[in-house]
Amino acid sequence: METSRTQVVIIGAGPAGLLLGQFLLKQGIDHVVLELRSADYVLGRVRAGVLEEPTVRALRDAGVSERMERESLTMRGFDLMWNDKHVHIDFGLVNKVATVYGQTKVTRDLMEARLAGGGVTHYEVNNAQPHDFDTANPWVSYEKDGRQFRVDCDFIAGCDGHHGITRQSVPSEQIRTFSYAFPFGWLAILADVPPISEEVAWINHTDGFLMCSLRSKTRSRYYFQVPEGEDIKNWNAGRFWAEYKRRLPPSLAGKLVTGPALEMSLTPLRSSVSTPMRFGRMFLAGDAAHIVPPTGAKGLNMAIADARRLFEGLKQFYAGGRDATLLDSYSDDSLGRVWKAVRFSWWMTNLSHKLSDNPFNREMQIAELEYISQSVAAQTTIAENFCGLD
Ligand code: FAD
Ligand code: PHB
Repeated sequence: METSRTQVVIIGAGPAGLLLGQFLLKQGIDHVVLELRSADYVLGRVRAGVLEEPTVRALRDAGVSERMERESLTMRGFDLMWNDKHVHIDFGLVNKVATVYGQTKVTRDLMEARLAGGGVTHYEVNNAQPHDFDTANPWVSYEKDGRQFRVDCDFIAGCDGHHGITRQSVPSEQIRTFSYAFPFGWLAILADVPPISEEVAWINHTDGFLMCSLRSKTRSRYYFQVPEGEDIKNWNAGRFWAEYKRRLPPSLAGKLVTGPALEMSLTPLRSSVSTPMRFGRMFLAGDAAHIVPPTGAKGLNMAIADARRLFEGLKQFYAGGRDATLLDSYSDDSLGRVWKAVRFSWWMTNLSHKLSDNPFNREMQIAELEYISQSVAAQTTIAENFCGLD
């Protein structure tokens, strides 16, 4: 076994791991990132697209915002639509904006900065495993190219997503996971066609939710609800567009431009929160600790907020006095924020999706949507939650 030592081992090179790595790199805190997949695979994953203001600030502070400032779009609100009606949620109500900039680009910006700054990332590692994180001497083992490695460290950051190894390594009596799975998912398409609208729209349709989003003035991202158990193999771009157009309100259907799919994917809609987010010298961040249905556009923003908060704790610890105050409050502070985002994502999902065949559910949704359209207070609450609670 080949051995080495560093201060922090980050497991996972998604947005949480890469942002934490970028902050540590700038701060001169020694660390290494271990990633299961190849760099190309990580870059090829098309996911979120809406950034809250604290996320944009974090990317600026990490020194990776140059392309974002140039290429992102400003989102000043969105539409909620049902039947032939709609209400515009204006972010001006809370004096905020959101930013449209794809997760793929966030990942690329972070990877490029890491490479330029000399950060060490090992891609395509197998069997990464955290050890002894309940002691003062944690370490991580992994395999690469058929060789075995051991890295001793002060701290382990579990940034390895929902299916990662860090959360699974915690003894079951030390962790509690709260989960809820909606009985449906989202089918997504990414295509180089002009978006139907420059504003993102959430549409409650009798046959199920659909959503119009975008990545640029020439690239669209569209989603619609499918039942659980749906198989992506049954879908191609042609079938996607036909069903999408069928569900669109007539005012938008006429504007739909279709084209070949750059990507199609299926996402289950689930909420899951594991508590606590710290186990001795191992910390969980991002999807490793919690996932939400994408309806509230929160997952990426939560991952970035965790990574930033964890960095603040590590920075304080290494500042000289080994002060662990912020590390000690990491889990409680983060969970306070996480539960509110989980609640909003769950609520938005319940408001906009076909929940069952019972027409009572839809009548409740319509009553709530009508109320929202008549109440500036309700619209303000939605804007406040969507733009991110400070
Ligand atoms: P991840 O991005 O999952 O990164 C974790 C990394 O760890 C991955 O690179 C993974 O390969 C690596 N890894 C896993 N196991 C190991 C291991 N054993 N060893 C080493 N490395 C490991 N959010 C939104 O806000 N809006 C959306 O529209 C949206 N759509 C989504 C669609 C899909 C299909 C998925 C899966 C998620 C979506 N999300 C969305 C959520 C958002 O993308 C995530 O919240 C975000 O990626 C979380 O970042 P992360 O760094 O915590 O985890
Ligand atoms: C996206 O653009 O991919 C997107 C936007 C808003 C969401 C989810 C996804 O709530």
